Formats: sequence, C-alpha cells, structure tokens
Amino acid sequence: MRVVIQEDYQKMCQWAANYIAEKIKNHKEERPFVLGLPTGSSPIGVYKELIKKNKSGEISFANVVTFNMDEYVGLHKTHDQSYWYFMHDNFFDHLVDMKPENINILNGMAEDPEAECARYEAKIASYGGIDLFMGGIGVDGHLAFNEPFTSLSSRTGVRDLTTDTRIVNSRFFGNDPEKVPSKALSVGIGTVTDSKEVLVLINGHNKARALAATVEGNVSQKWTCSALQLHNAAIIACDEAACGELTVDAYKYFLDIEKAERL
Ligand code: GLP
Repeated sequence: MRVVIQEDYQKMCQWAANYIAEKIKNHKEERPFVLGLPTGSSPIGVYKELIKKNKSGEISFANVVTFNMDEYVGLHKTHDQSYWYFMHDNFFDHLVDMKPENINILNGMAEDPEAECARYEAKIASYGGIDLFMGGIGVDGHLAFNEPFTSLSSRTGVRDLTTDTRIVNSRFFGNDPEKVPSKALSVGIGTVTDSKEVLVLINGHNKARALAATVEGNVSQKWTCSALQLHNAAIIACDEAACGELTVDAYKYFLDIEKAERL
C-alpha cells in the first residue's frame, strides 16, 4: 500500500486530481476508462481540480464511464441530500464533455433494491471492471457504506447505517439523525477491491484513527477500509492532520519513500 502524505487538504486534492488526470490521459484504449467515485466532503476539492482540468482542455471525460459508490435508500434523485444530486451539483454538471449515459449511480428509490444492486454489479462487469476507484472513508473506517463488520468480500447490496454514521451525517440533515435515511445501497468491499487501482482520500483530525487502522492495523472487518492492505495497487492520499495516530516510524517511512510526490 502507498501512503502519500501532503501538507494540507488542498494539496492532497491537487495530488489526487493530478493522479486521476494522468490515468485518464494515458488511457489509449478504445474501451472507456472506468472510474469509481465517492461522495462526501473529502472529494470536493478533487472534483474542483478535475473540473478545472476538463474546462481548460487538459482532460476529456468523453471516454470515461463512472460508477458511484453508494446512495441513500428512499431519497429521490432531486432530494438535495441524495448522492445523485450531490454528484451532479459538485461534479458532473460542470464537466464540458461528460456523457449522461456514462454516469452510473445506484437508484435508492428502486422498487426491488436487491435487483438494482445485482444490475449494478453486472453493469460494472460488462465494462470489464473498474480501472480506478476513488473513495473516501467515514470516521469509523467505512468504505462506501460498508460499516464496521461488513464482510470484506461483500458485493453491492443494501446496507443498514449505524447510529454513529447517522449522527455524523446528520450535519447535512438539519442536525437530526432521525432524518438521515437508515439504509443505503452500496458497492461492497469486494467490489472496490476488485478494481485495478484504488485511491482513498483521508483528511482531517477526525479521520486519524481510521487512517492508522487502514495502514497499520490488522486486516479486520471492524475497520472495513483495512481490506485495502490486501490490494495490489491501493493508494491512500492524506493530509498531515490525519496522520496524528500513525506511529512515528510509519509516518517517517511514507514521507521518505514518497518524497518525490510531495507538492
Ligand atoms: C459517507 C459516504 C462515504 C464517505 C463518508 C465520508 O458516509 N457514504 O462514502 O466516504 O461519508 O464523508 P466525508 O468525506 O464527508 O468525511
């Protein structure tokens, strides 16, 4: 696992956007580049950078297909807290050449949620899998909506959200955890780790425990993000603030080995 530590949030986002842009530019095949995407506050800076690169003509999304990680159950796409709304508001609507038919987001209003999840897995497979999955994690280490103790080989499915996650996410729902949906559709840990590459953003003091568990803890279903230790091409992009719980050894190791990446 690579861990690229940047001084602050902005530099973490710049680095991640540069990394993704290079992958898109270097994709010379006719088949589309398949990109997995997260919601949350962590990726917002990356989306801003990618939009700039797209508007300036540095990168094109014409041959990019996207799959989002998750969606709340019961929120219509027009609801301002649905992840469909978030993605269009923060990213897709600002790209000059993203084709709407290439955007894939789980439908949280599906009549048959299990069938919707099976359809999603099949669609990912129809493209030959995901080339690069960008992710974020929750303070409890959840990757997508794979809460603690979700199987590390899980596939796309319906997830119950923990009270902790509903409390954390209530900041977007008038600070009322009861207003946060109790279920979500989410790609599985196995879906993410099947991707050719995984790039996870971890920033801020409140993610320090989760970062340490991801990088230095045991591989455990308690911290579902720790499954990334078994991935052949996983990168964590983080800021200094998130490094507070790493051991000094690990912190120094990654600063040294990745010094060429420091912005
Ligand atoms: C939600 C999403 C996750 C995301 C997490 C962290 O729970 N389902 O995919 O990673 O929030 O969000 P933030 O980046 O705002 O801390």
